[in-house]
Amino acid sequence: MTDSQNNLKLQQTPDGSYTLLRTDMGETYHSRHGALTESEHVFIKNGLDLVNIQGTIHVLEVGLGTLLNAYLAAQFAQENQKQLLYYGIEKYPVPLPLLKRPEMEWDRKQEQYKKLVESDWEKEITLNPFCTIKKIEADALSYQAKHSIDIIFFDAFAPNYQGEMWDKAYFEKLYNQLNPGGIFTTYCAKGSVRRDLASVGFSMERKPGPPGKREMLVGTKPLSFE
Ligand SMILES: C[S@@+](CC[C@H](N)C(=O)[O-])C[C@H]1O[C@@H](n2cnc3c(N)ncnc32)[C@H](O)[C@@H]1O
Repeated sequence: MTDSQNNLKLQQTPDGSYTLLRTDMGETYHSRHGALTESEHVFIKNGLDLVNIQGTIHVLEVGLGTLLNAYLAAQFAQENQKQLLYYGIEKYPVPLPLLKRPEMEWDRKQEQYKKLVESDWEKEITLNPFCTIKKIEADALSYQAKHSIDIIFFDAFAPNYQGEMWDKAYFEKLYNQLNPGGIFTTYCAKGSVRRDLASVGFSMERKPGPPGKREMLVGTKPLSFE
């Protein structure tokens, strides 16, 4: 995959929210059936909502993209009064004008999205009293988290576009960065991905997918005594 920031186009999805289309790949950053609906379903309802730990939850996102997942996680943290430290990794940051999502009105709540979009990379930004985020420009394949992680939002492009991101060796590296009981969530439901994740140690579950997708995957790193 090449850095093709000039090949990006905003596209509205049926739930009213926007995604980006990579015109060179013909691939969108979210589901064409609803960007917001997919993000909420895969990463919040079947992700953050399943984390059951005391203290700060450490989130690692692979493929920060338009910052939609990060924004929803910050809202979740505030609404549920859970402390979140969010590391979002992106190799090809989206140019600022394309991050001004047309559906976001800049009212008080969406001020947080504006702050997220406009904040500097590589700095810890406090989005609200419960969520701090660091936008990290890096190749996720070689990134090593400095803190062990409680949940991984795995949001790379699909395996047929980016096979290297769905590789067993990379899954193993991510597994090793997770705390016992940690969660790996992804929109992808491919059988070979599920088997590869299981082979590196995850306990895998198929969950109902968001609109347009029958299933998605959630992996849990077993607790040490299991
Ligand atoms: C499906 S999109 C992610 C959508 C994003 N989570 C959002 O909420 O908008 C995949 C993202 O992974 C990024 N990406 C591709 N290869 C990468 C790599 N090696 N390391 C980090 N990010 C990568 C792409 O640039 C793109 O932003």
